[in-house]
Amino acid sequence: MSIDGLFKYDCVSLDADGSGVTVLDQTLLPWEEKFLVLRDEAQVYEAIARLRVRGAPAIGIAAAYGLYVAFRRAVSVPGFDQSQCRSEFYRISRFLCSARPTAVNLSAALSRMERRFEASSGRTMDELLDALRSEADAVKSDDAAMCAAIAENGAALIDRPGMGILTHCNAGHYAVSRYGTALAPVYLAHSRGLAPRVYADETRPLMQGARITAFELMKAGVDVTLQCDNMAASLMASGKIDLVLTGCDRVAANGDTANKIGTSALAVLARYYGLPFYILGPTSSIDPDAVSGADIPVEQRPAEEVTELYFHRRIAPEGVKVYNPAFDITPSELISGIVTERGIFRPPYDFSNLKLDTAV
Ligand code: MRU
Repeated sequence: MSIDGLFKYDCVSLDADGSGVTVLDQTLLPWEEKFLVLRDEAQVYEAIARLRVRGAPAIGIAAAYGLYVAFRRAVSVPGFDQSQCRSEFYRISRFLCSARPTAVNLSAALSRMERRFEASSGRTMDELLDALRSEADAVKSDDAAMCAAIAENGAALIDRPGMGILTHCNAGHYAVSRYGTALAPVYLAHSRGLAPRVYADETRPLMQGARITAFELMKAGVDVTLQCDNMAASLMASGKIDLVLTGCDRVAANGDTANKIGTSALAVLARYYGLPFYILGPTSSIDPDAVSGADIPVEQRPAEEVTELYFHRRIAPEGVKVYNPAFDITPSELISGIVTERGIFRPPYDFSNLKLDTAV
């Protein structure tokens, strides 16, 4: 079976008439596969901030389409002062950019839209809107191409039948345009008959591993076993794991990598148990302006996610202080390699030949 045949729909897309961004509401997974149509910047912001659409590449794509849709809507209001068009475009772009701080794909996609806006100066409004729509389409199609290449490049790591692969959070179909990043080579290996065995961390507090990774792998017929986050050391000690694969939200110039909270703990454990630990992501997740992990902003999220969300009853005493960072930084020296669409980078990391966008 081809890898394409494993996915029945895209999780983020533009409506045919260009008036809305359709996203699968990931907060409802695995109970319900429900699509939402987002028609203005407030709705797009809310969907990103609340993780209805989540995963670094997916939020970049949603923001690019969201900027197009919201701008198109604003300029078509009767009486809109066309001389305000530039300031309105940047207002929406900056607002969307503030929805989440860590994944660089969000600001990178919006910067790409801003560059297209500038390159279209002097055009009619219809031409400008066409240009913005095609740029947002390109953000998505480029991501799909990058994920397909990551699948091929990462598949070299899954070189024998029945390998045990530990993953964290969700870096699969739901987090991107198509295929995934960390899960893309897994799907390819599965389609080639290598029967990988995936272990998914549940990923407290928002349970992306339990709710989303387990769900999408089961739907695709991939062998998956769910475990609580605190079971990783025991699992590695048991000898069931051959390889750790995770996604990334932002990779600094020195290879330090931000990904879902808990990722760096897996990297430390993998080093102790002598297991290879790989980060997988598109080069759009590399931020050349972040010299090291210290330059990556780590999002802090609401206490309720830890104390009550996804529980029928509150599980913590009222008033307890809560520490809830959404991401952590894995030091580059713990990363065996970073798999991108342009190949596998090895330490010491140096992305300076990649000609990456710095205007984010
Ligand atoms: O808070 P989330 O669910 O958006 O965090 C997502 C992750 O950390 C993913 O691993 C990362 O974005 C890579 S997605 C291909």
